[in-house]
Amino acid sequence: MTDRYAVIGNPISHSKSPLIHTLFAQQTGQNMSYEAIEAPPEGFAATVQRLRTEGYLGCNVTVPFKFEAFALCDQLSSRAREAKAVNTLIFRDGEILGTNTDGVGLLADIEKNLGFTLMWKDALLLGAGGAAAGVVWPLFNAGMGVVIANRTITKARFLAEEFTGSGTVYARRYEELAGQQFDLVINATSSGLSDELPPLPDGLFKPGALAYDMMYGRETPFMQFARKQGAAVVSDGLGMLVEQAAEAFYLWRNVRPDTGAVLGELRK
Ligand code: ATR
Repeated sequence: MTDRYAVIGNPISHSKSPLIHTLFAQQTGQNMSYEAIEAPPEGFAATVQRLRTEGYLGCNVTVPFKFEAFALCDQLSSRAREAKAVNTLIFRDGEILGTNTDGVGLLADIEKNLGFTLMWKDALLLGAGGAAAGVVWPLFNAGMGVVIANRTITKARFLAEEFTGSGTVYARRYEELAGQQFDLVINATSSGLSDELPPLPDGLFKPGALAYDMMYGRETPFMQFARKQGAAVVSDGLGMLVEQAAEAFYLWRNVRPDTGAVLGELRK
């Protein structure tokens, strides 16, 4: 029998996850299907319930349901608790288990695919919404000092406050970044969706710096800015997408796919 999985979001038609998981399944010889399901804004819990009733074994969760998924789980991993959001569900023994593979995916792409070392380096995280919240702990755990910059400073402070007493995480306004330099600058704002750029000062990138946009599918104003400002490496977030999918696939199937081959296929 074919084991069934899905990704739930809204909108979802643009999602590359079905293609990625289908390529993983082919590559590893797993008998499974993976489809994209659009849940209505108020219908996430009902959609999850339907999948469980129909015998699905798990699903991914994307915008805007990651927080609702967090609230729905019977058991949460520490990664999910740190992110306060869930992107991967496992339906097992009548329970919903939830975890978050976004942070692992980001780190795998940066360290493995881009060959960039994070320990003792300085990171600037742009944005303090859901996408940013999911990666603060992973960056911190990877040994980085993290500055969170956001238009709405209260949201950045809220994220940084959790680290009071345990490490170097600061909240800043964009204008307060002038004169500071970073090894890694991650754009976790949704500014690229509207072809905008947060108001960043010149000179943010240290020699050898990596500029990483969590968006994928096009060259964003942030990526253009980083190239002009001399960032050594500029990357979109496609690798993160593939790596977070691989971690979910591993949790469901206990098999690690070769992400490099799939990333190469998607980049073609
Ligand atoms: P996501 O889940 O994608 O993170 P979100 O929770 O709505 O979406 O968060 C969007 C983030 O992008 C926020 O940090 C937002 O800044 P504010 O908190 O000040 O609203 C940021 N953002 C969106 N458009 C932006 C723009 N044009 N310039 C700067 N920041 C922007």
